Amino acid sequence: MIRNGSHAAAEEEEQAEPSSSSRSPEKRKRVIRVWCDGCYDMVHYGHANQLRQAKAMGDYLVVGVHTDEEIAKHKGPPVFTQAERYKMIRATKWVDEIVEGAPYVSTLETLDKYNCDFCVHGDDITLTVDGKDTYDEVKRMGRYRECKRTQGVSTTDLVGRMLLLTKSHHSNVDNAAYQLHTDNFGKEVNRYKGKNYPIMNIHERTLSVLACRYVSEVVIGAPYAVGKDLLDHFKVDLVCHGKTEVFSDTDGTDPYAEPKKRGIFRILDSGNNLTTDDIVQRIIENRLQFEARNQKKEAKEMAVIEALKHKEDSLKTDAALTNN
Ligand code: CTP
Repeated sequence: MIRNGSHAAAEEEEQAEPSSSSRSPEKRKRVIRVWCDGCYDMVHYGHANQLRQAKAMGDYLVVGVHTDEEIAKHKGPPVFTQAERYKMIRATKWVDEIVEGAPYVSTLETLDKYNCDFCVHGDDITLTVDGKDTYDEVKRMGRYRECKRTQGVSTTDLVGRMLLLTKSHHSNVDNAAYQLHTDNFGKEVNRYKGKNYPIMNIHERTLSVLACRYVSEVVIGAPYAVGKDLLDHFKVDLVCHGKTEVFSDTDGTDPYAEPKKRGIFRILDSGNNLTTDDIVQRIIENRLQFEARNQKKEAKEMAVIEALKHKEDSLKTDAALTNN
């Protein structure tokens, strides 16, 4: 008899653990509700990776997103408005529900209000305007779990890339041959968007689109023109583009000529006219405030790191004295 894999696994589990079958149906099906909160400004793959890890620690993920006012008070002004940040988190895979305007400090009261078992945060320090750990209460009550923070990306870093027009992120890949290959994908974007683009390298952009809940698959380094081979290989039924301008290919041809010929090309209205240029513009306009915010954040974090190091050193000295 061929059995469905998951049924077989469930039966085996019941045999190995007879007590599980005597549990009440509600208990056996109890859903673990996980809470995450944050600013989620300029949502990037570090945020997505945090939400992915958090979801894997339970079954249902509730994400609290702070208001612009709360962020301005504790950190400095966000680049994206709260309405935009709510939309971005709603569109992120792994997120089941969002709480708009969640308080900056995570409390037991909030966890209980949304029936969450525990909250999950990356292994970095988050402080209030008065320098207090925003997770202090939930940590003390054992309702806190940590996940790995993703190295190499942060809102601060992206703001820096946009302000300084740096390109080092284009080549932060170790393997030289692979780097050449991926640099070429960057060049394609350079050609039609200008020399400072893309702001993120091909790996980062791949992770960003993969984190969008509407995306099923990504073709890394897809050719600029949507030609016969691509349409046939991936069995594409429909090709869509937003209302932004379509730039010609290097030979001056329309990159959507083939789908248009097949009658499978559609222009979509995303209902939003925000572009990367607009975001750069916002950052330039608020440059001084963002720079001040970044310096403040770094200084606060350094102070905490120093304090922790000091505490560790004195513990080591105590231990050495006791051993002697
Ligand atoms: N996070 C992460 N990896 C990153 C950036 C953020 O895991 N590279 C996690 C944080 O640890 C937190 C959540 O994403 O659990 C939301 O972070 P947020 O409140 O937006 O602020 P920051 O931690 O300051 O993130 P950023 O520096 O990108 O603003």
